[in-house]
Amino acid sequence: MVKIPLQQLPPVPSRPLADRWLAELEARLADPAADRVAICRDTLVALAFPEYAGRFDAALADEAVPLATRLALSACDPRNVTLEPEAYGDCDQERFQRVKPLLWLWYSFDRLPIGGQNIDLGIRLRRVLAPHIFKRVGKNFKCFQHVEFSFGYNLEVGDDVVIHRHVLLDDRGGIRLGNKVSVSDYANIYSHTHSIVEQVDVTNATTVLHDGVRITYHATVLAGVHVGEQGMVGAVAVATKDVRPYHVNVGIPAKSVRVKPNAPADAGDRLRTSTERQN
Ligand SMILES: CC(C)(COP(=O)(O)OP(=O)(O)OC[C@H]1O[C@@H](n2cnc3c(N)ncnc32)[C@H](O)[C@@H]1OP(=O)(O)O)[C@@H](O)C(=O)NCCC(=O)NCCS
Repeated sequence: MVKIPLQQLPPVPSRPLADRWLAELEARLADPAADRVAICRDTLVALAFPEYAGRFDAALADEAVPLATRLALSACDPRNVTLEPEAYGDCDQERFQRVKPLLWLWYSFDRLPIGGQNIDLGIRLRRVLAPHIFKRVGKNFKCFQHVEFSFGYNLEVGDDVVIHRHVLLDDRGGIRLGNKVSVSDYANIYSHTHSIVEQVDVTNATTVLHDGVRITYHATVLAGVHVGEQGMVGAVAVATKDVRPYHVNVGIPAKSVRVKPNAPADAGDRLRTSTERQN
């Protein structure tokens, strides 16, 4: 293998517009009393239905506007939308309703011409939104498109974390991501599970990816699993049990196939799982 670092691309010509747009959004969100529903609605209307900016309610009531257009326009207001986790019995409605407008803005941006694979703007927008949604987010958070959450408010993110496209972070029972964690395309990190007998019998368990963990393409980490520092879960693996620090686990169920060559020689206690350490 050869080292292939990322290229430094020049800024796109519309960068000054993006800077101003993001600064305005950031300033509106900085006010703890800000009306987040209005922020979401105004932003989405300006991006998707600019002809109705400033006359949202009037347009919804205007019989001259085609019905489907009014319905589509109405979805810019998060109160007209139901998100799946909202119906979960353990959803804390007070907390969820506070983050829902920003989750809806996040998801909707990804589906507009301005969003999708517009990498630089998308990453910068998500950096603006994340601190107002997650329990905690560190510096240099880098999140690509089409990532989904359950509640959002039960997610803790360390510094220099990268989340690639189409990842599911089910933070229903809580997810903690340490520093320098990387979650690759189409991976799923769960923190809730259902009884095999009774579907409504739900167990929430916090899932923890410690510092330097890499969850690779299409892998799944089940609820309550701890992946130890610098641990790795291989492509398409299903981690059903803890992964030891510096171990590479692959397959279904994921099992250790090697210890990374950079594992500290004196790792000792660190090379045991957190469950083993408790015993
Ligand atoms: C996890 C991974 C990095 C392991 O690579 P590695 O340490 O070089 O391991 P090897 O290729 O030597 O494989 C060791 C054994 O595990 C098996 N194996 C490796 N990856 C596997 C996987 N994802 N699923 C099932 N088995 C796997 C190999 O077939 C081999 O089995 P064998 O000993 O019976 O021949 C790699 O397989 C992987 O999944 N890569 C995903 C892509 C990636 O690198 N992502 C990181 C960027 S985000």
